[in-house]
Amino acid sequence: MSVPLKLIYHEEPTRSIDNDPRKAVIKPIVTYSNISKSYGDLHVLKNIDLNIAPGEKVALIGPSGSGKTTLARLLMTLEEPTSGTIEVDGEMLWHQRVKDKLVKANEKHLHQVRGNIGMVFQHFNLFPHMTILRNVMEAPRNVLGLSKEEAKQRAVTMLEQVGLAGKIDAYPAQLSGGQKQRVAIARALVMRPKVMLFDEPTSALDPELVGEVLEVIKAIAAEGEMAMLLITHEMEFARDVADRVLFFDQGRIIEQGPPKKIFNNPESERLQTFLSRFNRH
Ligand SMILES: Nc1ncnc2c1ncn2[C@@H]1O[C@H](COP(=O)(O)OP(=O)(O)O)[C@@H](O)[C@H]1O
Ligand SMILES: [Mg+2]
Repeated sequence: MSVPLKLIYHEEPTRSIDNDPRKAVIKPIVTYSNISKSYGDLHVLKNIDLNIAPGEKVALIGPSGSGKTTLARLLMTLEEPTSGTIEVDGEMLWHQRVKDKLVKANEKHLHQVRGNIGMVFQHFNLFPHMTILRNVMEAPRNVLGLSKEEAKQRAVTMLEQVGLAGKIDAYPAQLSGGQKQRVAIARALVMRPKVMLFDEPTSALDPELVGEVLEVIKAIAAEGEMAMLLITHEMEFARDVADRVLFFDQGRIIEQGPPKKIFNNPESERLQTFLSRFNRH
């Protein structure tokens, strides 16, 4: 089934996206449709429409408290939307279609769709009593049900990819923050998700450790297959990696476009102010 580009990027297509060769893509891998999220009277997300194409790298920037993490947590099924729907690879996350009606998804459905999504947080939360290898093998063993040998093989390959082949028998306490975050990346990737979310993966790190983590993410992005949503305050990184940058403020996408456009020619005053504050830091 082919979906016109207008639908894929129905949130105000930018010129560059119109010219994007991916417009031939059949359907988005992620679709947020009219998503709102409130905590009591606090409206954190307001009618978000967002489509991410397969393989697309989307950077999400914006002030603290603007709803970036909430947007990611909804996709990770850690939070439930107040209204609207989210689809991953054509499947609704929070709802199931029963005959003609949309009903709330059950745990089994959530568990299954969650497998399509990998997330790396600011804090890595490795199991301290397990070696690095076991940390990465655990989910393939327990969630995917792979044999010990298969899980080990996959885990070792992933750890090589993040540059930690020499550390597989170490424990988390023996690693630097940057190395731990690279383990966390391997742990998410080993599940072969269709979409990877990164929520400020370097903001808890000492400055000298930021580069190695960003390099690993860039290398993964360069492989091209996986869609990525990258929440970051590293503007250089966003510029290098992203196909598209979204500027978020007060629960809305205020402006979006290719990195060059967003960083060199921001249109809205809010984005101009945000970037200028940034440049001063
Ligand atoms: N579980 C929650 N309960 C109440 N308020 C929350 C909760 N999670 C987030 N918020 C609020 O939602 C707003 C957006 O938060 P968040 O998505 O973390 O923003 P960002 O990641 O852009 O800094 C903030 O005002 C935050 O305090
Ligand atoms: Mg956040």
